[in-house]
Parts: sequence; structure tokens; C-alpha cells
Amino acid sequence: MRRSPLGIVVASVVAGSLCVLSTGTATAASGGGTRPTPSCPWVGSTAPVATRVGELMARMTTGEELSMVHGLDSNTDASSSGPVYAGETAGVAALCIPALHLEDGPAGVGDGLTGVTQLPAPVALAASWDPGLSGAYGAVIGAEQRAKGTNVELGPTVNIVRDPRWGRAFESLGEDPYLAGQLAAAEIRGVQAQGVIAMVKHLGVYDEETLRDTPSDDAIVSERAMEEIYLPAFDAAVAQGGAGAVMCSYNEVNGVPACQSPYLLAQVLDGQFGFGGFVASDWFATKSSAPSVDAGLDMQMPDSCTYGAALAQDLADGTVPRALLDAMVRRILVSMFSAGLFDQPAGGDPGTPVSTPGDVSVARLAAEEGTVLLKDAGGVLPLSAHQDRSIALVGTDAGPGALTAGGGSAAVTATSVVTPVQGIRGRAGTGVTVTYDDGSNPLQAVQDARRADVAVVFAGLPEAEDQDLATLELPPGDDELIDAVAKANPHTVVVLNTGSAVAMPWIDDVAGVVEAWYPGQEDGSAVAAVLFGDVDPSGKLPVTFPTSLLQLPDRSPFQWPGVGNIQYAEGVFVGYRAYDAQGETPLYPFGFGLSYTTFRFSRPEAWITPSGDVEVEADVTDTGTRSGADVAQLYAHDPSTTGEPPDQLKGFERVALAPGQRARVRFTVGAGAFAHWDSGRHRWVVSPGRYELRLGDSSRNLPVVATVTVPGELLVGRPTPLPPPMASPLASAPADAQCPKDVVAPAVNGGLSVPSDLWSVSGRPSPF
Ligand code: BGC
Repeated sequence: MRRSPLGIVVASVVAGSLCVLSTGTATAASGGGTRPTPSCPWVGSTAPVATRVGELMARMTTGEELSMVHGLDSNTDASSSGPVYAGETAGVAALCIPALHLEDGPAGVGDGLTGVTQLPAPVALAASWDPGLSGAYGAVIGAEQRAKGTNVELGPTVNIVRDPRWGRAFESLGEDPYLAGQLAAAEIRGVQAQGVIAMVKHLGVYDEETLRDTPSDDAIVSERAMEEIYLPAFDAAVAQGGAGAVMCSYNEVNGVPACQSPYLLAQVLDGQFGFGGFVASDWFATKSSAPSVDAGLDMQMPDSCTYGAALAQDLADGTVPRALLDAMVRRILVSMFSAGLFDQPAGGDPGTPVSTPGDVSVARLAAEEGTVLLKDAGGVLPLSAHQDRSIALVGTDAGPGALTAGGGSAAVTATSVVTPVQGIRGRAGTGVTVTYDDGSNPLQAVQDARRADVAVVFAGLPEAEDQDLATLELPPGDDELIDAVAKANPHTVVVLNTGSAVAMPWIDDVAGVVEAWYPGQEDGSAVAAVLFGDVDPSGKLPVTFPTSLLQLPDRSPFQWPGVGNIQYAEGVFVGYRAYDAQGETPLYPFGFGLSYTTFRFSRPEAWITPSGDVEVEADVTDTGTRSGADVAQLYAHDPSTTGEPPDQLKGFERVALAPGQRARVRFTVGAGAFAHWDSGRHRWVVSPGRYELRLGDSSRNLPVVATVTVPGELLVGRPTPLPPPMASPLASAPADAQCPKDVVAPAVNGGLSVPSDLWSVSGRPSPF
């Protein structure tokens, strides 16, 4: 036993059943800088950013400063011809201040621009659990944005998938704040290394579309749930990723518009997370002038409805002191100088084709690494060109209608798409018969499937911004088609293209299931490589797959989609945290994914470092006959007295191994890994007690356990000075009738509210 300076004691390390994982067939299973000029000495200067900003601002008029804090109204003019950026600021030529060009988004260059690479959806990136890949993904986005003349990338999206029906689940990084935060930080570093500012979005607690931008779009959420679930990914994006900008969201949080929330913008983002960049509103989400300025909103996008003439008036009559405008502009300039926007401005324009072969390779790699093998019975996969002499491909999603991207601002127009039919035909070679039925004639499809050695049905569930899904079911007819093909051929594999979890009523009747998400333009190449085993499927689920809607943690209508507001009554019990706490067995758990080989965890050790951190180590061995990759996952298990969910992700590492090869994984966690948010004291606290660190390769397969005893209370990190507003359920922000809105969804139930003890769904009481 060793005592750490923090008072943590590692009491024991227990290796449970060490044999883990996998049923697979093989084993049973730019440019130069600019020189300073006399007129703009801050350009190309080597002075510290603060000095350069100071020099520049000393020369700026109020009007010039004002022009930097809002979008160009012309940009919102639908009649303008040719491609334009999603948002633009004016720039000040006389002072060499470049215009800002803001463009979506998180899956590649969006907004209908062409000649770009359609990367796999961010949820696929999340399924790779690979920060290195995330950095490469970000670098592709940054480089293509820059070549388009963009200098602010509108991504990544780090909102938590609270419910798989969320229309934007595909563009997020999953249901776990740690996973999302680590991947976002790596992606942001990749984007910003290209000289483009990353704008992480949408702060905060924005997790559904149904009530978006209606008076009921108000997340009623506890301080603890915000701090533990909804905000940590922003912390990582800012503190570890160094994001230069943050986008605040449409919704209200506890009755206060997010873009006008001193709690979110000043207290948490700046005070707690140490953010020094600028905050811009989501499109048409600026609700006011002076109150938003006071709260910490630095830029209105994409127009000037409140930060133009209205703010000018507020400044003129003293409602907004000039010092506040200075502070806003300073923050914008700090990010611009830090990203090199003055010294190495982005060239190019929206019409330039920018996709490169290297970018397409990253798209393919991400699609391969993100693919998750969920079921592989009887050795159906990988396909073999020797044994599988005939392959029947079925479903619109395998052909020209392949679902490779989600919709809305994260949609990306592919330069060209390799469809699954093309990819699989190319990989199978001439000796293998590959038939294709789009499913419009189910009898024909079933007949072809019956005659083939193996049938692969492709099924997609489209998702898009502005609209949540009504169910977890595939589109009408798809489940029936899968059933019919599975009855005709026992070697039926289903490939899913979905943005999040989907129900699988046919799961017991099919031999294999592959979740390929929205795989981007390299769809067919990647899926062929995985199906034929050229690539070992190593993706792990970044979201839990429930058996049905009834298992969801937010199953009362007051929680989803909300009635008059959105009650986050499940608190911190989101995603796997809820399933674990309720003892529910989901269809597939968070962190789960099979491989064509097998892995074993062994030789666990844990100790305290001189600096008081806990280190946990173990060997991961590829015990099969093929190369493959596993993701070691570390979860903290707190004493039940803390009120925390049973297991929470605190570390992960993807390891690629050859057969028989062994790698040692090591995780170092500080006391913060055992902390929970104390809403009474507004800070992170570690309660005394017995904790565990559990290591394995899925949230439900954690064979290695290290026990950690904390003898006395520990305080971690900085407290926040004040509690957040905790609105009454009926509170709502004043409507701003003057400004344009983005989307007006139909109001639901006219602002009713019902006490929480009446909640139940289908006769099942809410557990919360
Ligand atoms: C979305 C943002 C996006 C913006 C600009 C909004 O509707 O919520 O994510 O960046 O539009 O396209």
C-alpha cells in the first residue's frame, strides 16, 4: 500500500476473468509569412499577441470595432448569386484586418460547397476511439476550409447524445463527455494547425430538434448534470484543444437563452474553463443587444439585427460601455492573431476544388476504423472470395442511393461516392457473382438472396438537423425486407447506415450485423475492406443501442421531446450511465464492438505516482490468428453514496496488434477522475470511500479492477462563484419579434407543465 500526497491509497488490484472479447470466424470467434508594414505593424510582427492586439485596437474607431462583432447582412440575402460562406464579417482593409469567413462544418466543408471530401459522419469518428485519427480528420477539414478561403470552421459538435432520436446525433461525438471531449480536442488541434479557427458548438445543453427555437426550447437541467455530462466536452475542447471560438446554442438553459447566459458564457466558459477566445451565436440565436453583451456573447451571426444599429444605439446612450465592446473585439482579435489569420491569410474562394487524394485516404481510414462489428455468428464474416462464390447485395443503400452523410448544416457534398455495390464488386473480383437488388422488387431480392452463398442487406436511417426521429425503427419496409432475406438465406449480414442507435427486431434471425454509420464518400471501399477482412473491424459503440424506446433514460414526454420546456430529469443518468444504474441490458452496450480476432487483458498493476496520480497498467494480447485492434477502456466506479452512475469512462487507448503480439496499456488518472460535482458548494469534490478503476474493452466487459481508497474528502479544481439560474418550469425568455429566425418548428402543447411525480410511459413509472 502506498499513500499519495492527495491521500489516495491503492489497496488492491484484482484481475477478474481475464479472457475477453470477440467472436470472429478465424479464431472462433503555406505558405510564407507576411512582413510588417508601416501602416499595419502588427502584421507579421513577432511581438506577443496581446501587444499586437493592443497596437491594433489603439487605432480602431468605434465603427470599425462594431463591424467586427456581427455578420454581413448581405450574407443572409438569398438572392446573392454564387457560393457564399455561411457567415462573414466585414474586415477592415485600412487596418489589414481580414474578413472572417465562417463555414460548416463538423463532417467536412459543408453548406453545399463542391469539390470537397465527404468524410464519414463524426459519430463514425467517435466509434474509432482514436484521437490520432481525429487529429487527421481535423487536419483534412482545416486544410480544405483554408483552401476554400474559410478561416473559421463551424465545428466540432460536442453536444451529448441524450437520446438516439436526436436529428443531429450523427454529427456529434456520442453519449460520453470524456470520449467526446478527447476526440474533439484532437480534432480541434488538427483544424487549427492549418491556420483555421475551430468554433466548437453548441454551448450548451442542446440535444434535440423538435422544440428548437420555439418558446418551449428550454432545458431545465441540474447544475450537476451540466457540470458532469453536458459541459465537460467543451472544457476539453477549450482547455486541451485550444479552440479559438465557441458557438452558443439556440435553446434556453433554465429559462435563460444560452447566448445570453452569464452562467454559461462568463462563469463556466471563461471562469471555470479558462476560455480566452470569442463566442459567436448560432445562426439567428442572438436574442438581445445589451444583455447578450453583458453575458459574454462577442459576435452575432450571421446578421446584424441586434449587434448592428441596436448595439450602436446602446453604446451611444451608455447602456453598453465602450469597454465592453473593446473586450469583445479583443477576444476576436486574440483568436485571429493566434491562428495566424493576419500573417498567413487563407487564400482560395468557395468555388475552388479542394479535395486531395490524401484527404480521401483519411476519409477511407476513418470509415474503416469507425465501422463496428456487432454480430458475427457461425463464421459468416469475414467474406472469403474462395468460399463465398456468390454474394447477393440488397437495399437502396447499397447502390446509388447509398446513405453516406447526414442532413442539415453538417451535410457535405461528396466529390464522388464509391457505393457498396461498386466497392464489393471490385474487391470480390471476377470469379465471384455479385447480384444487386435495390429492394423495390422484394420477391426478386429474396430469390437472388436464396441462390447466393451469402446475402448482405444494406439499410439506412436518414437523420438531419431540424428534425428528430420519431422512432428507432428503420424506414418502412426495411425490417420486413431484412426478415424475408434472412429467412431465405441463413448467411445474411445486415450493414446499417444510421446516425445513432437503431432497433433490430430481426437480430436473432441474421448471422451478422455491421454498423457503418454514415461512412462518407469512401463508403463502398471501406465496407468491402471490412466485410472481406482486409481490415479488422475495431470500432466500438460511442452510443448505447437500446432494445427499444422503452429502455431510454428520457422516456417521459416531459423529458423528450418536452412539454412547455425540456425536463432533464434523468440528471447525470445519460446513456450507459442510465442503463447501468437501472440494471437494464441494452441490445448493445456503450464501448462494445467485435473483431475478427480475440484479445486478452492480463498482468494488471496499479500504483500511486509521486505526484499523487493513480496509474493502472495491463497487457493486451492478440490471442487470435489475425492482426486486429482493440480499445482498452478505463472506467471509474464510485461508492454508491456519491450518487454517481456505476461506471464512468476516464481513459481509453486503441491498440493495434499482430497475432500473438502484446502491448502494455497505461492510464494515469488524477483525483479528478473520482470527483463528482457538489451543487451545494459549486465545485468538484472527492468523497471519502472505496473506489474502483475498471479496465476492459466495453462498458460491460471490465475484467481488470483496481481498488482505490480515499480516506478523506478532496477538493478538486476551481469552484464556480455562483450557482446557475434554476428557472421555474414555466419561465421563458422574452421573444424577440424584430429579428429573423432560423427555423420555426411547431409549438408543442402550448407551454404546459406537469409535476414530475406524474411521469410515466406505457404504464411504466419513471425511475427518476
Ligand atoms: C446550426 C449550426 C450551423 C449554423 C450555420 C445552424 O442552424 O445549428 O450548427 O453552424 O446553422 O450553418
